[in-house]
Amino acid sequence: MKFFVDTAELDQIKELHDLGMVDGVTTNPSLIAKSGRDILEVTKEICDLVKGPVSAEVVALDADTMLAEGRKLAKIADNIAVKVPLTWAGLQTCKTLSDEGIMVNVTLCFSANQALLAAKAGATFISPFIGRLDDINLDGLELIEDIRTIYDNYGFKTQILAASIRTANHMSDCAKIGADVATAPPAVIKAMANHILTDKGLAGFMADVEKAGIKIL
Ligand code: G3P
Repeated sequence: MKFFVDTAELDQIKELHDLGMVDGVTTNPSLIAKSGRDILEVTKEICDLVKGPVSAEVVALDADTMLAEGRKLAKIADNIAVKVPLTWAGLQTCKTLSDEGIMVNVTLCFSANQALLAAKAGATFISPFIGRLDDINLDGLELIEDIRTIYDNYGFKTQILAASIRTANHMSDCAKIGADVATAPPAVIKAMANHILTDKGLAGFMADVEKAGIKIL
């Protein structure tokens, strides 16, 4: 499973990138607003750092303006994936940009039917939002499973990009289901390293190091 990092914070992307943990980046208007940076400038800097796909989201609601925004965003770098919402206008924009050879990430997906439409419209990525379904007592992981089944049934090439990931367990669950990509905030990716028995085991080793005066350097 590829790891995308869901942030527009350059320093955090760089830290994970240096460890080989970043196969791509996703941003959205909320993350850009949080960064306090200009969307075109910060997106360019991310694209200069990361070779993999960098999702940059349109902000218009109508297809004509979305298309113009998408074409402008795509000019930032070759690794831009234009992110469009899963609305009818978003699907129209997806089809046109995909036909022009531009990667498209269709976001705000909350149903298998929406994912089916995005695949038909030529999306490179579909972004089902796990956490926001869980928030309303629905099952986000079940949606990932359903989309996996549907795409595999018909050989759709659209990649499942699990999004709105809130916990480290979401990451391993997505990997078990076979999501192609999971995008998560840096803190969630880092939390994957945590285990209480690792901490406990290390504390025991350190006590013995102290007791026996073991030195390597
Ligand atoms: O990848 C989508 C993500 O940014 C949304 O996450 O936690 O706001 O639902 P969240």
